[in-house]
Amino acid sequence: MSDTKVAIIGGTGVYAQNMLDDEKEITVDTRYGSVTMTQGVYNGRKVYFMARHGGGHSVPPHLVNYRANISALKKLEVDAIISTAAVGTLNEKMPPGSRVVIDQFIDFTKNRTLTFYEGQGGYVVHTDFTEPYCPETRTAILKAGNSLSVKPIDRGCYVCAEGPRFETPAEIKMIKQLGGDLVGMTNVPEVTLAREAGLCYATIALATNYAAGISRTPLSHDEVLEEMDKGKAELQKLLILSVENISLTKNCSCSSAGKYWSEGHHG
Ligand code: HPA
Repeated sequence: MSDTKVAIIGGTGVYAQNMLDDEKEITVDTRYGSVTMTQGVYNGRKVYFMARHGGGHSVPPHLVNYRANISALKKLEVDAIISTAAVGTLNEKMPPGSRVVIDQFIDFTKNRTLTFYEGQGGYVVHTDFTEPYCPETRTAILKAGNSLSVKPIDRGCYVCAEGPRFETPAEIKMIKQLGGDLVGMTNVPEVTLAREAGLCYATIALATNYAAGISRTPLSHDEVLEEMDKGKAELQKLLILSVENISLTKNCSCSSAGKYWSEGHHG
């Protein structure tokens, strides 16, 4: 079996659904809580699948235990994390149905625990976020998408709103002026914690709807689920091909971004 271990964090509407061979449920205990996920194998490669909102989509975005989730994947020593995130779109070049391998984010969350580093061990840590998403993992996804009918779009700026409500049209107007392309509710602090932990992390943002005020109709979670359901089979292919494509040379800055991580203090 290949030594490379890859984790998938499935967002809204994305579940393991027998994507892997030898699937079994495992629970990992961390200092932030226990995390249950599916472990399996794809083409000789160990893969972990975590449902971000729980099996039955019962955990809202602002209450996800992001620290436990990332800490569990760190404990499992995964080499890379590929996550999915349903988003509203503000950019007509990324219409609903698009898959965007985002490269930047803006954080508009308000009330979340956003770091592992709270002064433990007597030191203060400021992590570099010049390149928030792992370029090697992003490339693996983009290459995997070349053989599919819906090609992933390279680059986009994700704006993380606190939720769980959708945005107002005025907020969307502001986000657009600030350079946001897509809006969602989960990528922060998931991406920030992954980088603090020194893990390679990239996200496929799945545009399910035009954002509030751009869409002519009120937004609903059902609409998001319906759109996610449409592209389900192709998305699974993209995920699995991406997993297969990951051959990290680790020329990225991800592990050095996490150089202050220590098991005793943070794991
Ligand atoms: N806003 C925030 N999060 C979302 C949206 C949206 O319009 N669509 C899917 N997730």
